Amino acid sequence: MTVLPITSPLRAWAERRNILIGARAIAPGDEAKLWPEEARRLGSSLLDRLRASGAARGLARDLLSSLLAPPCAILADADRVPLWPPGFVGSLAHDETHALAAVARETDVAALGVDLEPARRLEPEMTALVATPAERARYDDELLGGVTLFVIKEAVFKALFPADRRFLEFRDVEVDLEAGIARARYGARCAFFWESGVKIYALATRES
Ligand SMILES: CC(C)(COP(=O)(O)OP(=O)(O)OC[C@H]1O[C@@H](n2cnc3c(N)ncnc32)[C@H](O)[C@@H]1OP(=O)(O)O)[C@@H](O)C(=O)NCCC(=O)NCCS
Repeated sequence: MTVLPITSPLRAWAERRNILIGARAIAPGDEAKLWPEEARRLGSSLLDRLRASGAARGLARDLLSSLLAPPCAILADADRVPLWPPGFVGSLAHDETHALAAVARETDVAALGVDLEPARRLEPEMTALVATPAERARYDDELLGGVTLFVIKEAVFKALFPADRRFLEFRDVEVDLEAGIARARYGARCAFFWESGVKIYALATRES
């Protein structure tokens, strides 16, 4: 089953920036979508792990082929950062049931990050770890108690980390939901868009 239909506002936001994004249910057999060197690099024998990564990489390869990228393995470096073919950027995510991938040409987007989570309430102790004091003052309990900021910040981290190699705590990122801008404490900035339903999806693009 493919999610993020053509009418998805997130997909439309992405496509305005020449980013291709897709999400799909993880299915038995998706582990076979991993190329042998990808499976070796993941270094896991857990079927669920291989299946989720296979689903995400299969999706990313489909999206890359729409951008006319040659078929290639999507390996990962020592920090788990996915390595894209020359001239392309991308990001992967998976939860227990779905895989998400986004790709773009480097000439259109400097870097991007994606994340997804089932829509759920955060454990109360997590709320305090995820939101900054300014966010707690600005947003209502409904938003602060859910995973929206968590998902956006993970997408931002994935967009920034590959180039900057700076670890970020959730509270090192300040999210302005109205402006669709997130700022890391050290100055890097992302634009983002998120979509909520049964799952929360976020896509972040590096702006500076
Ligand atoms: C990378 C991270 C954000 C999310 O990873 P996760 O919860 O394991 O799983 P997700 O499904 O969301 O994403 C997994 C994919 O992210 C990608 N990824 C992993 N580490 C990455 C990194 N450092 N930078 C960019 N992408 C990364 C990989 O492609 C991975 O898929 P794969 O293992 O199949 O190749 C998390 O593991 C992490 O490293 N967190 C520390 C920093 C953080 O979260 N700070 C708070 C937000 S600012």
